[in-house]
Amino acid sequence: MSDDLDAGARRPTLAPDGPQASSPVTCLSLARPDDWHVHLRDGAMLAAVVADTARRFARAIVMPNLDPPVRTVGQALAYRARILKALPAGARFEPLMTLYLTEAMRPEEIVRAKAAGVVHAVKYYPAGATTHAALGVRDLRPCYPVLAAMERLDLPLLLHGEVTDPAVDVFDREAVFLERHLLPLMRAFPGLRMVLEHITTRAAVEFVSAGPDTLAATITAHHLLLDRNALFVGGLRPHHYCLPLLKRAEHRGALVAAATRGHPRFFLGTDSAPHPRHAKESPCGCAGIYTAHAALELYAEVFEGAHALDRLEGFASQYGPDFYRLPRNQDRVTLIKEPWQVPPTIAAGADVLVPLRAGEAVAWRLAD
Ligand code: DOR
Ligand code: ZN
Repeated sequence: MSDDLDAGARRPTLAPDGPQASSPVTCLSLARPDDWHVHLRDGAMLAAVVADTARRFARAIVMPNLDPPVRTVGQALAYRARILKALPAGARFEPLMTLYLTEAMRPEEIVRAKAAGVVHAVKYYPAGATTHAALGVRDLRPCYPVLAAMERLDLPLLLHGEVTDPAVDVFDREAVFLERHLLPLMRAFPGLRMVLEHITTRAAVEFVSAGPDTLAATITAHHLLLDRNALFVGGLRPHHYCLPLLKRAEHRGALVAAATRGHPRFFLGTDSAPHPRHAKESPCGCAGIYTAHAALELYAEVFEGAHALDRLEGFASQYGPDFYRLPRNQDRVTLIKEPWQVPPTIAAGADVLVPLRAGEAVAWRLAD
């Protein structure tokens, strides 16, 4: 954890509920949050991780980048059934399904998606941009009839906002995407609601802030907590490798400011992305950071560090459902300021995965 967050943790923070306004907050109640971007995977990995998400969040937008990807409503319904089956007994959790955009998708699939009621968005992966994005989109023009149907039926488009042009430096790929792809897309489909996922740069913060009400962004806990130095502390750190990459400290600062300022078009999306340890600790390791085991708790650290715990509820529990036009959750969760130790690994079938903060402390705990 960075020094400024440590310092913030000791400073008095305005208590959202009033009476102890000048003493540090040690207990925080908020409407149950939702995760607007998560990878739950399938099979043994799904069985290993889904409880972590379901314990904290009432709903989650589930990414479709399985292998093979979720491209039809039929596949989304079947995947949804597998997620529900993998939940622990008694868990109340609603997976919000998404479809994986391809150049072969037809507008009729969007009509079926809307009618099915369980598909809440379509995800755009530039071909080759990240894990299981090989079947993603090379050229957006063949997708225009699908995007027009989404605009007409009000089904949001979720963007992995990075160019894949090898001539563009990998740290600049998000900023270049904004001008090269997002702006033309917004001009072509002004009514299409879009979410720029897991933003990492000041440029993205400024672009979304200046954009119309149809444009929102999710922000991960790891991009709020870490800058790119975390990739190289004392050696190469594969468990801090994700896409889009962590950026410079100044960009992290811009993300923290955006998340904590109470702007309704920036909301929580963990992008928790589990991979087996051997796939991360490899000569060509996979991108993805697992945070679902401590997701809300990690965001609480960020908001406390920014003296903005009173704004966590908006970011985590209100702005997301408002943008997706879903009801806010009625039940509540409680966070307690009580450090706990993250285990070094989490079992995942015959494999293990290494969670963020493995073997280290998280400052906040979710009450049972
Ligand atoms: O770090 C990432 N991991 N970024 C993505 O876009 C995909 C994800 C995954 O599926 O592992
Ligand atoms: Zn993702």
